[in-house]
Amino acid sequence: MSNPFKSVPVRSSEITPKETYLSRRDFIKAAGVVAGSMALAACAPNAADMTPESLAADAGPGKTDERGDPANSFEEIANYNNYYEFSTNKEAVAGLAKGFTTAPWTVEVSGFVSKPKTFGVEDLLSMFPQEERIYRLRCVEAWSMVIPWNGFPLASLLKMVEPTSDAKYVRFETIYRPEEMKGQGSPFYPWPYQEGLRLDEAMNDLTLLATGIYGEDILAQNGAPIRLVVPWKYGFKSIKSIVKIELVAEEPQTLWSTVAPSEYGFYANVNPGVDHPRWSQATERRIGEISRRGTLPFNGYGEQVASLYDGMDLSLNY
Ligand code: MTE
Repeated sequence: MSNPFKSVPVRSSEITPKETYLSRRDFIKAAGVVAGSMALAACAPNAADMTPESLAADAGPGKTDERGDPANSFEEIANYNNYYEFSTNKEAVAGLAKGFTTAPWTVEVSGFVSKPKTFGVEDLLSMFPQEERIYRLRCVEAWSMVIPWNGFPLASLLKMVEPTSDAKYVRFETIYRPEEMKGQGSPFYPWPYQEGLRLDEAMNDLTLLATGIYGEDILAQNGAPIRLVVPWKYGFKSIKSIVKIELVAEEPQTLWSTVAPSEYGFYANVNPGVDHPRWSQATERRIGEISRRGTLPFNGYGEQVASLYDGMDLSLNY
């Protein structure tokens, strides 16, 4: 069968320039080295005095992604959210998520692994150095942001539990707590929210478990205390408030591909060449900008991830 994706190849002009990519790698490495001090800084007495406003003022200007795009402000990231467990109204999520109980919190890692274990979030924070990763987030609804996350690669956690040869996919589950998350009362969605990745996608260095934004604890509305970030895929893959990670043999069900299988596929790689049935994916609105910008194949991360899909028809496996 012909591969229609080949008609929209990653043009060399669209690939992250090598120098930028390499300097990004240096940056990530450096971020890893200073991670210890960052974690300490978060515990320093004066950290308690820092408000989101002061952090945004301190950290906002100057932070850019590896393409030179400025990071969105803390306020933008904190007040424009998709989190259906609270509301389908993006501007209402922050208020409704206020006070959501995020401690104590555990993440169960189970399934086809040699060493299944339930981790407290505080253990994860102390076990794995926290890095800063400034990623573009491209929502399937055609808006985007640049977000400075703090977190650690999912691969570090998966390596620790030792996946067995039967493990082919990873299934993620959000907490189910309808008494605090009123949206979970909606009969239109199969709660809890579920997502999945192929094991090699999950092991890719870009795939992050995020616990912070702008060096501050991640906010309830952004998926506290721990959420996934998969920057080359539409934002709905980046599941929030994770309580379960299961290594499985078969492609797992996901909330969106269950609700609307013809609209939301399992892979959901950002692809300007494959439109959503109800709108174009060729361009996007960066929150804070007036004119639209072109959407990049794999959200600009093609150099790191395109080879994961060699030989696959990405217009069928959308
Ligand atoms: N995770 C859960 N549990 N529930 C959700 O509704 N929305 C997804 C994703 N993760 C969602 C979720 C969508 S559609 C997007 S675009 C991102 O979260 C938005 O993340 P943000 O609000 O932190 O920007």
